[in-house]
Amino acid sequence: MKGILLAGGSGTRLHPMTLAASKQLLPVYDKPMVYYPLTTLMLAGIRDILVISTPADLPQFRRLLGDGQRIGVNFAYAEQPSPDGIAQAFLIARDWIDGEACALVLGDNLIFADHLSALLQEAAARSRGATVFAYRVRDPERYGVVSFAEDGRATEIVEKPAHPNSNWAVTGLYFYDDRVCDLAAQIRPSPRGELEITDLNRLYLEEGTLRVDRLGRGCAWLDAGKPESLLHAATFVQTLQERQGLLVGSPEEVAFRMGFIDRAQLRREANRLIKTELGRMLLEVADHGEPGIHNGFAS
Ligand code: TTP
Repeated sequence: MKGILLAGGSGTRLHPMTLAASKQLLPVYDKPMVYYPLTTLMLAGIRDILVISTPADLPQFRRLLGDGQRIGVNFAYAEQPSPDGIAQAFLIARDWIDGEACALVLGDNLIFADHLSALLQEAAARSRGATVFAYRVRDPERYGVVSFAEDGRATEIVEKPAHPNSNWAVTGLYFYDDRVCDLAAQIRPSPRGELEITDLNRLYLEEGTLRVDRLGRGCAWLDAGKPESLLHAATFVQTLQERQGLLVGSPEEVAFRMGFIDRAQLRREANRLIKTELGRMLLEVADHGEPGIHNGFAS
């Protein structure tokens, strides 16, 4: 399975911070925001990753992430000339996807959950249909909202409803089968002029192949799209890391735990960051950690 990291958009709710910098490169505590969704893809076992961003911002992503060799993944890059909708990613990525199954994560979405890796790898292993994740929120009208029947099946999915039928928002992490580009090509722009990911999800729902996994009480899904949510996300990461002494959202650590890189390579990466607490924590993993997703680490 391949993966798209979608990191374009205009970030208008974070102006003026995003007038000259990509939202997804702003710091969330001690790392660029994009590291968190990147590790989500990596925890699913995905190593071929297409980074999509605006023509202005894409060079900074290249500078930050490079070709991916240092963390055992392959990065490719593509431009989205204007923010015409999340589902447009599959039109842009069509040649790169080359008929494979593909996941998509939004560059401003942070998911923290126990057993996340197992959940993601299960979704990635499903060969037909789509898997999305729902999270209970207080303000569902800002999101794609999914309703469920008594037996837990998803019954409808609506983009930003004025009167939501449930509190379950669809998170910015989607797994699709190898038909995704053909299905995305069927979508027409919505009244607000965007190719809506909700319309793509609805195509799967209507054919009975959309699986919606509900993330429970112990999970955190944060989208760092507003000043207060950016601050919440940073504080959350700081709290987890300082209290537990475990990193969250470190591509270097995840690469090691997933077996994408060996201990010697992790040590090299740690040494590059050695003036920081992050580097020191990575060195600790390189010296004492074992490969494998365990130890309370996204187990
Ligand atoms: P949004 O939060 O909907 O949009 P935005 O990031 O432009 O922010 P604002 O509303 O403040 O103007 O986007 C969610 C994520 O999806 C974010 O990471 C940007 C990304 N995105 C794209 O890359 N291309 C798109 O066409 C859209 C709609 C979103």
